[in-house]
Amino acid sequence: MSDTSRSRSVTTRHAAAHAARPPALPPVHQPTTHPPAAQPPASQPTTPQPMTQPPAAQPAAAQQADPQQADPRSAAPRTADLRTADTRTADARTADTQPPRTPSRVTDLGGLVQDTLPLLCDWLPRQRWFAGKGHPVTAIVPAAVTLLPGAAPGDPLLLHLLLRVEQRGLDGSTGSDLYQLLLGALAGATPARLDTDATRAAVIGRINGGPHDGLLTYDAAYDEPLTLRLLGLLTTGGPGGAQVGPLRFSNLSGLTTPAGAGSGAPGPGADAPARVGTAEQSNTSIVFGDTSILKLFRRVSPGLNPDLELSLALSRAGSNRVPATLAWFESELPVLPETEAEPESEPGVETETGTGGVAAGAEPGPAAQLATLGLLQRYLSGGRDGWEFALTHVRALRATPDSAPDSAPDGPTPVRSAPEGAAPDGRSPGEGVDGQPIQPGTGNFSAESFLLGRSTAEVHLALARALPVSVLGRADIEALASTMALRLDAAALVAPALKPYQESLHRIFRALAESARDGRRLRAQRIHGDLHLGQSMRTGRGWVLLDFEGEPAKPLVERRRPQPAVRDVAAMLRSFDYAAAHLLTEVAEDDPQRPRLAALAATWAGRNREAFLAGYAAAGAEDPTADPVLLHALETDKAVYEVVYESRNRPDWLPIPLSAIARLAAGG
Ligand SMILES: Nc1ncnc2c1ncn2[C@@H]1O[C@H](COP(=O)(O)OP(=O)(O)O)[C@@H](O)[C@H]1O
Ligand SMILES: [Mg+2]
Repeated sequence: MSDTSRSRSVTTRHAAAHAARPPALPPVHQPTTHPPAAQPPASQPTTPQPMTQPPAAQPAAAQQADPQQADPRSAAPRTADLRTADTRTADARTADTQPPRTPSRVTDLGGLVQDTLPLLCDWLPRQRWFAGKGHPVTAIVPAAVTLLPGAAPGDPLLLHLLLRVEQRGLDGSTGSDLYQLLLGALAGATPARLDTDATRAAVIGRINGGPHDGLLTYDAAYDEPLTLRLLGLLTTGGPGGAQVGPLRFSNLSGLTTPAGAGSGAPGPGADAPARVGTAEQSNTSIVFGDTSILKLFRRVSPGLNPDLELSLALSRAGSNRVPATLAWFESELPVLPETEAEPESEPGVETETGTGGVAAGAEPGPAAQLATLGLLQRYLSGGRDGWEFALTHVRALRATPDSAPDSAPDGPTPVRSAPEGAAPDGRSPGEGVDGQPIQPGTGNFSAESFLLGRSTAEVHLALARALPVSVLGRADIEALASTMALRLDAAALVAPALKPYQESLHRIFRALAESARDGRRLRAQRIHGDLHLGQSMRTGRGWVLLDFEGEPAKPLVERRRPQPAVRDVAAMLRSFDYAAAHLLTEVAEDDPQRPRLAALAATWAGRNREAFLAGYAAAGAEDPTADPVLLHALETDKAVYEVVYESRNRPDWLPIPLSAIARLAAGG
């Protein structure tokens, strides 16, 4: 499992709205380039570790939806005369009797999409990023169809689709999610480039019958020529970008790349090979050469995605702790909300909750129904995934001489002068702190943890400067504590293993509530929201944080709400525990080395947690250890979440968060 295996259970909250409203016919947008969108304002914008830490949310079971339950096509709106202008169609319109040629056969885009729906019914629920696994799909409704420009005669077509997928929940109610799909459509034989191990699964299928019989349809994210068309839209047109139908493309060509962050690097590699990233993820990322990476958000919500919002704010602030943002695209949503009408599950604070996009202005208004669809950022060439990097060191503990854990090689918490120019590990030997080398094979990672803490604090400081902050008063803090307590009680029902600790854990949350009585306040600000080692990368310029989307299972309005920054710190502390515990998953239960390795792992986790906290405080941000009550409560809240996750999905892993629960309950 991984953060990217995180799936969201099917949403049922909009069921009533759907039932009351007839499905909208999808408008089909032709590739007319509209006047540029308004210029962006000058200043703006679980979870398991990959393979091991709980995703933000996870379906109870990862079964596939049963396409036999209903024929989505029959439930989808018919596209009445959607015959659209293929401007090359002088002879296309007579093409029905001709052998298939891509553009000439496709004069009816709406019809093409309709004919693809039965194939999608089978293909969509099998995709890693499909959130509603395990629930029958009852309808797939094309909510918007946009033909993207750039196809020469005979080239595959590139259609941008927003698909509303309706599913039945366990209680029989229906709900829906909106998904983004880049659809490639091509006549003739399957090209070799779509028949490789990396691309075969992208083929949706061939249309069976009707005017588009035999046409090959596929996920265009895996077809380089089509992704380059999309990249062209993102990177041309200047900061105002371009508009194609409801799609709005914007870029920051004027952005000054901070020194050391790849300044002088060429623009996105339009002529370099494009490939879909191999990381396990909940979205789909396309890497262009070694220069840029485009994340396509798969499940689309109305509103500004925090990944774009925070990445852009940090880039504009000159932070080199995130990959520089280059461009993005959004859609005006064809169907009105679907919006974030959920009750707030965390204490309210004053915050912005607009649903407009970045291009609409710094203070987006609720009238603008823009949804973030994609984010193009500088590619961190040669960067090393934080989770993998940490695991390399954890695994090295196995080679540690048979000695007491105190003599484990992960030296004392490093002090405060750490060079960051060192290349990520894989180098020999890397630079550490105060002359302590970080050598692969020694398990010593704490100097890196220190630097990661410092980078995290720098991101928090920059976010606090760039975006709204607020103060949590007594009522807010009490509400925060009571939300945690409620979550604990709900969790204990799902995971009885929590029961023996329940009362002690409640005391932790009560201590937080009581701490508010003496009039203290908590600072709240925008945070990462889903931080763990797998969301960080060690690059030649130090640690960089990725993926500011927050927990995708939570509604956007909640993800965009200011929170105590310590929440991110607590989440990263848990991640060190997971990395250390990973060692034991690779050791047989009856291995005589197990007790020794368990002790080494615990020592490793403790030292790296300390180093991370020390690095965080060294950057000048509020010292998380200065408020142990809050830190303790937030870490406990996260561990409770993990217990539920592991109980449901990986019972073998339950001991990892449970041992943290035991420690936290005992005051550790
Ligand atoms: N700018 C980047 N440079 C290099 N690799 C990146 C970059 N952004 C993301 N990645 C890689 O892609 C993976 C997934 O990216 P992420 O933004 O976390 O997507 P998701 O939202 O799907 O989890 C990361 O774990 C990392 O390995
Ligand atoms: Mg991620």
